Amino acid sequence: MPFFLPESMAAPFVVESPDVRYTPDVIEAQYDYQAVQVRQEDGITKVTPSSTRLLFRTERRVPKLGVMLVGWGGNNGTTVTAAVLANKLGLTWMTKTGPKRANYYGSLLQASTVCLGNGPGGEVYVPFRDLLPMVHPDDIVFDGWDISGMNLAEAMRRAQVLDWPLQEQLRPHMEGMRPRPSIYIPEFIAANQQERADNVLTGTKAEQVAQIRRDIRDFRNASGVDKVIVLWTANTERFCEVQTGLNDTAENLLRAIESGLEVSPSTLFAVASILEGCPYINGSPQNTFVPGAVELAVQHQVFIAGDDFKSGQTKLKSVLVDFLVSSGIKPVSIVSYNHLGNNDGRNLSAPAQFRSKEVSKSNVVDDMVDLNPVLYGPGERPDHCVVIKYVPYVGDSKRALDEYTSEIALGGTNTIVIHNVCEVRGSCSFAFPPNATRLSNRQNCSK
Ligand SMILES: NC(=O)c1ccc[n+]([C@@H]2O[C@H](COP(=O)([O-])OP(=O)(O)OC[C@H]3O[C@@H](n4cnc5c(N)ncnc54)[C@H](O)[C@@H]3O)[C@@H](O)[C@H]2O)c1
Repeated sequence: MPFFLPESMAAPFVVESPDVRYTPDVIEAQYDYQAVQVRQEDGITKVTPSSTRLLFRTERRVPKLGVMLVGWGGNNGTTVTAAVLANKLGLTWMTKTGPKRANYYGSLLQASTVCLGNGPGGEVYVPFRDLLPMVHPDDIVFDGWDISGMNLAEAMRRAQVLDWPLQEQLRPHMEGMRPRPSIYIPEFIAANQQERADNVLTGTKAEQVAQIRRDIRDFRNASGVDKVIVLWTANTERFCEVQTGLNDTAENLLRAIESGLEVSPSTLFAVASILEGCPYINGSPQNTFVPGAVELAVQHQVFIAGDDFKSGQTKLKSVLVDFLVSSGIKPVSIVSYNHLGNNDGRNLSAPAQFRSKEVSKSNVVDDMVDLNPVLYGPGERPDHCVVIKYVPYVGDSKRALDEYTSEIALGGTNTIVIHNVCEVRGSCSFAFPPNATRLSNRQNCSK
């Protein structure tokens, strides 16, 4: 039976191994990464195991971390800021079903556990956050940009995510937070976003990138943080074209910015972050990381990551398709219907922005299908249909109805139907799972 270390013992554990070394400043761990190389020789597939010795060095002093959100005034931006404040202040509030207390449910680091090994009583689990020295979210300092200049307290109210008694307590802490003016290029997001764009930078693309770089430095100096991460949680943009000479290399991308050629706001933010040495995470589905941006990150040795948060229905889809295909079951039809009524839904009601989301949702299926040539012939794909409708009344409560039909043995079919109501979806910044998922599974094995 698994057991947990008592809270007081959980944090300081010591690994007794010749591969792990503790110094006052760092923890060093040697790790053998086992892999297998496969190649074809004279019509024979040759498989060679390989092992690479890696050294992981973790600083024991946890840095003071700043996170700058692009789209700070949106549902995600306001909710993550509010959630961290509510936890830090230990807030409680009353709802119609009773008192609630701030927590970090849905945070991989703060609310999940990891098996440390086997003890006399069975497996020993510790909170994920206690594995290594890590920044606690309560200590993160937030800042950011938004094309809407509303202060964070008003923006939280506009988002209609959090209970009112909680908002009332947070208001004094958030009304002094105001997003910095941002880069706004109207053709990249839906035309219906124009009415909130009252906080925008002017000047050439190069001047705007220079301003974003100054903002990052200003924030770093004013807040005294050691490290800054920039996270795109602004609206989904349309895809930009990848063109030779425009954005295919780092040099061409920088030249395109200087010449004022087409570069999306999210790529401009990525370039500014990379040039400032700040990791850049992309939470939306557009192709921010054109080849030139990736090359620039490699040149500057800056970490970039992200292709849509994939925290709700899309996450469920990747997990479920992985499960089905890995079980030797053949999904042949995947139909996803969504409706939502927040500003993200409003933006996605425009065809070009919807297309970015559609591609992101399709990719998770295509990746799995490509791995199984036993089930799928060359070029064969399940029918995959994604519908997203904007229904203002449901606000931030996103409803998703998914139907997965798969072929099973001897001509049988299996149909899984999922009705997923994802409330407080703004909290996807913590990768919160859906609040309520109903799942029904009809099997037709009669043949
Ligand atoms: N919440 C989820 O469950 C979830 C899951 C996956 C992906 N996403 C993606 O995360 C993004 C944010 O979602 P949300 O619900 O917070 O949306 P939102 O519309 O509430 O917030 C987006 C914010 O970005 C601002 N904005 C738009 N363009 C900008 C720019 N160029 N610079 C600065 N600010 C800009 C808008 O004014 C708005 O305040 C969306 O792209 C969405 O598709 C969300």
